[in-house]
Amino acid sequence: MPDTDERLRTVLDRYERRRTQERSGRGRESTETSTRMFAIGPEAGTLLNVLARSIKSPRILEIGTSYGYSGLWLAEAARARGGHVLSLECDAHKSDHARGEAHAAGLAEWIEHRTGDAVTLIPTLEGKFDMVFLDLWKDLYVPCFDAFVPKLAPGALVVADNMGRGGGAGTRAYAERIRCEPRFESVMVPVGTGMEISRFARTL
Ligand SMILES: C[S@@+](CC[C@H](N)C(=O)[O-])C[C@H]1O[C@@H](n2cnc3c(N)ncnc32)[C@H](O)[C@@H]1O
Repeated sequence: MPDTDERLRTVLDRYERRRTQERSGRGRESTETSTRMFAIGPEAGTLLNVLARSIKSPRILEIGTSYGYSGLWLAEAARARGGHVLSLECDAHKSDHARGEAHAAGLAEWIEHRTGDAVTLIPTLEGKFDMVFLDLWKDLYVPCFDAFVPKLAPGALVVADNMGRGGGAGTRAYAERIRCEPRFESVMVPVGTGMEISRFARTL
């Protein structure tokens, strides 16, 4: 991520302060999920950015926008490599917030925020994706996987968050599923809460 981009840095700093508060318990009076970001954090954001920047003109699908933090790391890579991000979120107020921050960061041109249920929306999407970032409620990982596999371009990268220990039944089911799929090669990387990185249609 270029450190010369002041607009983006300002917005990321704002998110990262809010994330620190959220994680330290302040502002957690409300355990209500709609007010919490559950954002991936800078290390995982950097990994997403590096992966997305490795693809020429990437068409990227993000599943689980929340308030828009991870989408900025992807949108920056899309800007750098001539690509685009489509980010899906079921809560309209989160999509609206994410859209506003993408504008503030100067990245609105490279990311579209769409509101709706991802499992329903994915089958309606046109074209193929070169990268998918999966980060919504865990019981929906496998249903989303089933929906987005037909939408993957050859060689596409799929990154799933929260794949470390303690992720729960939904993420375990996803790990079992993708590792049994002969069209994928897959590895869990201990960055953030654990990211499963998979490549579609292995060529080895
Ligand atoms: C872990 S948060 C995403 C965090 C975000 N990727 C980030 O790092 O900034 C998961 C999000 O998935 C959304 N979500 C849950 N179920 C969904 C569904 N069926 N369709 C779309 N989004 C959904 C939740 O509202 C929540 O905002």
